Amino acid sequence: MTSKFLWVCFLLAALTLAKTYSLQPDQQKVLLVSFDGFRWDYLYRVPTPHFHYVMKHGVHVKQVTNIFITKTYPNHYTLVTGLFAENHGIVANDMFDPILNKSFSLDNMDIYDSEFWEEATPIWITNQRAGHTSGAAMWPGTDVKIHESFPTHYLPYNESVSFEERVAKIIEWFTSKEPINLGLLYWEEPDDMGHHLGPDSPLMGPVISDTDHKLGYLIQMLKKAKLWNVLNLIITSDHGMTQCSEERVIELDQYLDRDHYTLIDQSPVAAILPKEGKFDEVYEALAHAHPNLTVYKKEEIPERWHYRYNSRIQPIIAVADNGWYVLRNKSDDFLLGNHGYDNALAEMHPIFLAHGPAFRKNFTREAMNSTDLYPLLCHLLNITGMPHNGSLRNVQDLLSSTAPRASPYTQSPPFLRGGVKPRENEQEESYAYFLGVSLGAIIVIVFLITFTKHLIRSQIPALPDFQSEISQPLLQA
Ligand SMILES: *[C@@H]1O[C@H](CO)[C@@H](O)[C@H](O)[C@H]1NC(C)=O
Ligand SMILES: *[C@@H]1O[C@H](CO)[C@@H](O)[C@H](O)[C@H]1NC(C)=O
Ligand SMILES: *[C@@H]1O[C@H](CO)[C@@H](O)[C@H](O)[C@H]1NC(C)=O
Ligand SMILES: *[C@@H]1O[C@H](CO)[C@@H](O)[C@H](O)[C@H]1NC(C)=O
Ligand SMILES: *[C@@H]1O[C@H](CO)[C@@H](O)[C@H](O)[C@H]1NC(C)=O
Ligand SMILES: *[C@@H]1O[C@H](CO)[C@@H](O)[C@H](O)[C@H]1NC(C)=O
Ligand SMILES: *[C@@H]1O[C@H](CO)[C@@H](O)[C@H](O)[C@H]1NC(C)=O
Ligand SMILES: *[C@@H]1O[C@H](CO)[C@@H](O)[C@H](O)[C@H]1NC(C)=O
Ligand SMILES: [Zn+2]
Repeated sequence: MTSKFLWVCFLLAALTLAKTYSLQPDQQKVLLVSFDGFRWDYLYRVPTPHFHYVMKHGVHVKQVTNIFITKTYPNHYTLVTGLFAENHGIVANDMFDPILNKSFSLDNMDIYDSEFWEEATPIWITNQRAGHTSGAAMWPGTDVKIHESFPTHYLPYNESVSFEERVAKIIEWFTSKEPINLGLLYWEEPDDMGHHLGPDSPLMGPVISDTDHKLGYLIQMLKKAKLWNVLNLIITSDHGMTQCSEERVIELDQYLDRDHYTLIDQSPVAAILPKEGKFDEVYEALAHAHPNLTVYKKEEIPERWHYRYNSRIQPIIAVADNGWYVLRNKSDDFLLGNHGYDNALAEMHPIFLAHGPAFRKNFTREAMNSTDLYPLLCHLLNITGMPHNGSLRNVQDLLSSTAPRASPYTQSPPFLRGGVKPRENEQEESYAYFLGVSLGAIIVIVFLITFTKHLIRSQIPALPDFQSEISQPLLQA
């Protein structure tokens, strides 16, 4: 009798929570856009009216903590998996996997080797497994076969394909007979020019303006296709950029014999694989070599980077201070702008803006983790995500309370709901929403307490098993 009552309580609580979070089916569309290397504060360098238009009518997060290392491939894979690099396996743009005995480098076709990508399952695959369709225009990894799949529609990577052509494809897929619900769009700037000019160069102004024009073009095309008000547009990036200088170069040749190690990845995080028997010699020679280079044995890499438990992370990594460059000698390639540094540095942080029926309007949040995007995407697409390192709760307040929801406080017959216009009165709605969530949470807590008491009283011998099961995920979190 008691347990039946408890189950009813639990179901009610679960329903309350689930219902307050749901989004109407015709609003379950997402277009995720990455402007590579768009540092968070580029928004304020020159007028960026289109970015500001999105912010005013949508949401803006000022500081997004991306993942270490702050490079392109690791961060783009985090955006679509919600995992840290050590968990998704794309730990750098240049990698060596000692188990596979294979290398990965952007300079050749290695990136098409599926095995490097299959430690995780990107969102387009999960979306398709849920019965939906996805379309990708040059997003890193979307033209690679992963777990035997590609996105439903995709363009093979070709940097010469213009932004306008990429947008045309995205619009075509969203408006086709069997429309996609998830679109992924990638553009190489302002990263490319940021590397060549350095972010502090005044010539970056026109580059940022051009990116703003590109966004304007996208908005215009979405409006023309009548998609602007129905899809959820998220604009972000993989990392920022910092100014480098030939005055701030650390030359490994000054400290290490090239025959004693293999340099897997170079700057600003040198990934060092010592030759057989040379580990101590290499480590000692480098450990205190330069005040602007911090050298870690793999097992000593700081916890906060979540950059340890993967065989593709090399036995020694040497991390340069902001704006410092690691080279073997000065003949190696040098760029005036670079990224890859500590993800706690503001210079490494990307932008984050969003607009659409699911999002609040003119709302600014101070900070988020880039791992939180994945659960947000899963929520918007109404799909069940894979295990990840983010939390929807952390970004829940970006979501509009005005989007029609099947909340118990705004009950209307289901056949009417589709036509209900978003409400103007945000205050009232968000109060009801808050109340719904709070009530749901209280019911769940009361249920858990009662349930635990019930369990303790009725099944004392079963308790140890029960405890070990629930405590494991908590310890891992
Ligand atoms: C979300 O998806 C589930 C199926 O996985 C479906 O039962 C439910 O109705 C969907 N919710 C909305 C609001 O579309
Ligand atoms: C690893 O691959 C290289 C060729 O890329 C080969 O020469 C070497 O023998 C392989 N090592 C092992 C342990 O298989
Ligand atoms: C890349 O795109 C350009 C411009 O559309 C085209 O001319 C070129 O043939 C494409 N290259 C490949 C390899 O498809
Ligand atoms: C480089 O090292 C010097 C000496 O320790 C230090 O004063 C300086 O702040 C470092 N530079 C950076 C960018 O951290
Ligand atoms: C850098 O090292 C390469 C290979 O050892 C050598 O050929 C080159 O002369 C060196 N350059 C400088 C500037 O020392
Ligand atoms: C947006 O919000 C800011 C303060 O958060 C306010 O000053 C501004 O008037 C608002 N703009 C619009 C268009 O609502
Ligand atoms: C980011 O994640 C860390 C570790 O999980 C957490 O302590 C922090 O509060 C998160 N930041 C935000 C803004 O949610
Ligand atoms: C990140 O998520 C993965 C997959 O759930 C998990 O195995 C890993 O322990 C998590 N990492 C942290 C630091 O929580
Ligand atoms: Zn990048």
